[in-house]
Amino acid sequence: MKKQICCRFTIKSLLIINLIIASGFLQAQITTIPIRSKVCVILLQTDNNERLRTIYFGEPLNDESEYATVADSYFINDKNAGIYNAAYTPAGTWNLVEPAIQVVHYDQNTSLELTYDRHTVEEIDSNTTLTTILLKDPRYPFQVSLFYKVWKNENVIEQWTEIKHNEKKAVRLLKFASANLYFNNKEYYLTSFHNKWGKEMQPTEEKLLRGNKTIDSKLGARAMLLESNNFILSFDKNASENEGTVMLGQLEWTGNFKLEFDIDSYENLRLIAGINPYASEYLLQKNEVFKTPSLIYAVSNIGTGEASRSLHSWAKKYRLLDGQGERLTLLNNWEATHFDFDENKLVELIKDAKEFGVDMFLLDDGWFGNKYPRNDDNAGLGDWQENMKKLPNGIGYLVKEAEKEGVKFGIWIEPEMVNPKSELYENHLDWVIRQPERPEVYFRDQLVLDLTNPEVQDFIFGIVDNLLTQNPELSFIKWDCNSVIYNAYSPYLNEKKLPQSHLYIEFVRGLYQVLERVRAKYPKVPMMLCSGGGGRTDYEILKYFTEFWPSDNTEPVERIFMQWDYSYFFPSIATDNHVTSWGKQPVKFKIDVASMGKLGFDIVADDLTDADMQFCKRAVSNYNSFKNTVWHGDLYRLVSPYENEIAALMYVASDKSKAIVFNYLVNNRQNVKVTERPVKLNGLDANKQYTVKEINLYPGTTTPIDSSKVYSGDFLMKVGINPDIDMKRTSVVLEVYEVKN
Ligand code: DGJ
Repeated sequence: MKKQICCRFTIKSLLIINLIIASGFLQAQITTIPIRSKVCVILLQTDNNERLRTIYFGEPLNDESEYATVADSYFINDKNAGIYNAAYTPAGTWNLVEPAIQVVHYDQNTSLELTYDRHTVEEIDSNTTLTTILLKDPRYPFQVSLFYKVWKNENVIEQWTEIKHNEKKAVRLLKFASANLYFNNKEYYLTSFHNKWGKEMQPTEEKLLRGNKTIDSKLGARAMLLESNNFILSFDKNASENEGTVMLGQLEWTGNFKLEFDIDSYENLRLIAGINPYASEYLLQKNEVFKTPSLIYAVSNIGTGEASRSLHSWAKKYRLLDGQGERLTLLNNWEATHFDFDENKLVELIKDAKEFGVDMFLLDDGWFGNKYPRNDDNAGLGDWQENMKKLPNGIGYLVKEAEKEGVKFGIWIEPEMVNPKSELYENHLDWVIRQPERPEVYFRDQLVLDLTNPEVQDFIFGIVDNLLTQNPELSFIKWDCNSVIYNAYSPYLNEKKLPQSHLYIEFVRGLYQVLERVRAKYPKVPMMLCSGGGGRTDYEILKYFTEFWPSDNTEPVERIFMQWDYSYFFPSIATDNHVTSWGKQPVKFKIDVASMGKLGFDIVADDLTDADMQFCKRAVSNYNSFKNTVWHGDLYRLVSPYENEIAALMYVASDKSKAIVFNYLVNNRQNVKVTERPVKLNGLDANKQYTVKEINLYPGTTTPIDSSKVYSGDFLMKVGINPDIDMKRTSVVLEVYEVKN
């Protein structure tokens, strides 16, 4: 049931009337707005000038009436330095630090003041509230609404902003952040994640010192190729798994983003997050609403483990497409064949998929293009007709062949892109982002289509629509995006006499519009988000996708680290892991690593020994027996590969009746000694009794783990179990089962 409270000097318990005589004027009433999850509260309060400030970000108080007096405990009175803790800092008036918003009014005036007008608190359901705060400029008909959506049980907050005006002519928006947070802790530690192809999610933790630290992207498309939009903030000490106050945050935007961490002269932290204003001045028409993307964050006072579980649970329930559903295990042909395949080879691979026991065969890049066949990455992109030489009987034939084998069929597309060597480029140069007067610059021999153009959006929607109408049994789409945007220039915006500075924003909006249409017509078809590996990782686009491809790097030890880091933000049901020929480790190790997510293969079955194949089949069947715990259970990161010779992670079913524990050797130095200490489990019920059984044993090997022994949950969490990892047992998977009397 929805309940809405409109507030303007009305909430008695939250409002104190402050009569302060300053400069001979009776000052305004003070309004206090707590935005509260179970473990944290953002406390906003108006000052004597009706400016809204953040006065506290911390644990909620038991007695709500005490919120009104919190500000008295902090002294933020530096007359010279300006106001640092504005809830949304405007530029051009009293503020002299990094603004959240900067505008040029219709009359070229560059000043903006924002004062509190009113707010509402809407109870969307028993778990979710939406607080909306209206700020207005007293001189210009210009307004900003701040939105705070709180999922109480998950301790997740999503924040965004809407900007609107009623001025005589358009207003230029120079900066338009999604969120402007303020923290008054003693110290701040930021973990940011740095990317490049094959090296996604490489973490760096640093203590933030005075000044502004920026993480951003200006790449346009494949926007997270170099920097991740995900971050961990830890308060007062380094981030740790099971203690301390931490925030896991992400800007939900599939384009240029900017995260600014600014320590002010009180040693307080200002966090400003939003679309990167770089080359993106936005001309806002009268009464048009500019909605920013959201900043999403989970807060925990007991470390990153709890914050991740909160974010995962939120994502599965409320954001990720079909987050509580099933996923298809698969055999992909990319690593196995690259562009070198034909119909017969694919039919053989489809048979391999059946042999492995996976649900689906996924046909990757290289199936299309005739005038310019896609036999390499320098031709054919954009020409989405089956290559008649490779596939004389079309996709439909392959879908039928798969059906005969009892496996599903999926297909790769990269619909936002074009090779200059393509019919699309020849026929529709006006659809391509490029500077008409300059030499073209290529990324992987390709260019990006101009998604600001509705015709291009129709074309992209058409690619998916044609595939699915012609092949209704098609069961899966892998949507790739390999190029960044060079020479940012839109022929469409030029034709429509719209500013070129809208390109980066309208490109992303165009992409979302296409995806909206795809999902309106095909709500269920599972889709994998891929961007040359993990170049797109945000929860806005994941509304439309069931899963994502973290990296082309499938070397399993590298993957342990990468999956560890992705797991801070994304649940394993969304994370696709494939067993490939990368790495020299045994196939058992590779499968054990890939099983911590959605399992897939990208190898040639014929290259495997009989024992390996036998093992793979057994491992797929084991995976099917525990996948629900991995997909729907709670993740506990037990032993960090960054600090130990091994890594250990476990997933626990919500009723704590079973769990699955993955242990891996991550150090290949000779005689490494890792068996001395047991691994302490987590998330079990201390009062339940459990057995522990090793599974995924390679044929001919035995286990030292006695599966008949019964342990209490208490024992397993305080003492632990020793997986007995060594150079011969480099990965160990343990199934934990409750013993019911
Ligand atoms: C990049 C992706 O990350 C790979 O998995 C593969 O699909 C290639 N593109 C195909 O070109």
